[in-house]
Amino acid sequence: MSEKVHQIPVKKLRQSKPVVLPSMLLCDFGNLAREVERLEEAGVEALHLDVMDGVFVPNMTYGMPIVEAIRKRTQMPVDVHLMIESPSNYAKAFVDAGADLITFHVETIKSPGDAELLEKIRSMGCAAGLAINPLTPMERLLPFVSLCDLVLVMSVEAGFGGQAFNPIALERLAKLRAEFGPDLLLEVDGGVNVETAGKCVAAGADLLVVGSAIFKHPDYCQALAHLHQSIASMSMDVTKTNEC
Ligand code: DX5
Ligand code: ZN
Repeated sequence: MSEKVHQIPVKKLRQSKPVVLPSMLLCDFGNLAREVERLEEAGVEALHLDVMDGVFVPNMTYGMPIVEAIRKRTQMPVDVHLMIESPSNYAKAFVDAGADLITFHVETIKSPGDAELLEKIRSMGCAAGLAINPLTPMERLLPFVSLCDLVLVMSVEAGFGGQAFNPIALERLAKLRAEFGPDLLLEVDGGVNVETAGKCVAAGADLLVVGSAIFKHPDYCQALAHLHQSIASMSMDVTKTNEC
C-alpha cells in the first residue's frame, strides 16, 4: 500500500506550498473539536501535532489518543512531530492513529540502523521526516537526507512553544535547498511569526509550523492572513491570501 497512500496528503501539501501548519501545542484542549473547526474555517490546510515524552525533551504533551481524536475530526493532513527518545517503539501506533507524516529527531539516531525507521514509516503508508535541533551539527543529518520525504529544521531547541526564532534555521534551509533540490520538503518550526515567516520561505521552507502567532491571536483567520502577507512580501512568486 505504502507509496500511493502516503503520497496523497504529501502531494496535497506540495501542490499548496508554502503551507502554514498550526502547532496544536497551544490550542484549547478542552474544546479540541471546536479548535479544529475554527482552524478549518480560517483556511488552515494541515495540522502539526507535537508529541513530547519528558525524556527527549523536558516537557510532556500528548500521545496517540489526541492524534486519533483530531484525525476523526478532519480530512486535513496530520503532521506528527515526535520529540521522544525511542521513536521506533511508537511509530506504528502513530500511523494507526492516523498520522500522514511522521518526523522524528536525528538526535535519537545512535547507530546507522536507527535510520531504518524512515523506511519503516514509509512502508506503513506514511511520509517520513527527520528533525534537527539548532545546537546539533548538520553533519549528523546529512547522511540521512536522501532517505527523507521531509526535513524539519528546528528554529528553537525542541520542547516548548513561545521561544525566540534562531536565525541559524535560515542558513540551514538555504543549504538544504541548494544541496538537495526542489523535491525535498523543508519544514521550519519554532518562533515562526509575521517577522520570520517570509524569511523562512525565501530561504527555502515549504512548511511553516506556527504556534503562538496563531493561538495567541483572537482571530485565527486574521493571524493566518498576516502570515501569508509576510510570506508574499518576501517571495514575489507566492501570492497566497485568505479572506476573513
Ligand atoms: C517546539 C514545537 C513547536 C512549537 C511552536 O518544540 O515543536 O511546534 O509548538 O510554537 P511557537 O510557534 O510558539 O514557537
Ligand atoms: Zn513541532
